[in-house]
Amino acid sequence: MIGDKVMRIVILENADQVATAAADVIASTVQRHPEAVLGLATGGTPLGTYQKLVERAKRGEVAFDRVTTFNLDEYVGLPADHPQSYCTFMRRHLFEPGGFALERCYLPNGSVTTWQDLEEECRRYETLIQRAGGIDLQLLGIGADGHIAFNEPGSSLASRTRVKALTEQTRRDNARFFSCIDEVPRLAITMGIGTILEARRILLLATGEQKAEAVRAFVEGPVSAQVPASALQLHAATVVMLDAPAATLLARKEYYLSMERIQQRLEAGLPL
Ligand code: F6R
Repeated sequence: MIGDKVMRIVILENADQVATAAADVIASTVQRHPEAVLGLATGGTPLGTYQKLVERAKRGEVAFDRVTTFNLDEYVGLPADHPQSYCTFMRRHLFEPGGFALERCYLPNGSVTTWQDLEEECRRYETLIQRAGGIDLQLLGIGADGHIAFNEPGSSLASRTRVKALTEQTRRDNARFFSCIDEVPRLAITMGIGTILEARRILLLATGEQKAEAVRAFVEGPVSAQVPASALQLHAATVVMLDAPAATLLARKEYYLSMERIQQRLEAGLPL
């Protein structure tokens, strides 16, 4: 890839193109390495990608039965089988229809109730990731406030898996999955930014104009704990896939588009 050790910015027309391109990256990773370790996200953004991966698995184009997965986060206080837990979300949208081996699909266990058990669970999760050999490809969304996983603004860029309080904005954003905002948990277990940066490759997706300001801030602003996703500027192999509305505030949009055109020619073996 041109400019190794940079964030590659890929701007596509719409969310469906982002989902297809992201599914291409994930499926080709698993085709090359059937025992790959995938880091996965929940939320609205990756749903289209998961749908396309499920379709490809059903057509026999890719098999997920040997991969190991680690999700970024889970709410504290919801049992795994709660309808709004991230565990339920992943089973419904990806793991079961996609033919994943559930015994190798890990999420933090948010149903433990004491601080001591929560801390122990965070340590256990980090150890599990290490024992699996680390994450080959980490999929990320981004919050409107620049958060990745549940690392809200102000999170240490070196943070590890731990319990975080959700901001009111994140609780409001996530209330659409619950019957009312009071039901949205106040705490979550989340991989830390330091944990995420250890993934060998990272793929961040952002769609819709409500993400445009966060995208501008993390791609073109300074590296800052106030914009947790900006830590990805320090990562050696991150691809950011955006639809046109999410890319609207980027000052260097034309430059990213021209770099991508060169990249495509390079990959197709065409002369520059
Ligand atoms: C979810 C997660 C969050 C979301 C972010 C964007 O596992 O870690 O950081 O990626 O809140 O959510 P959506 O995609 O719903 O806009």
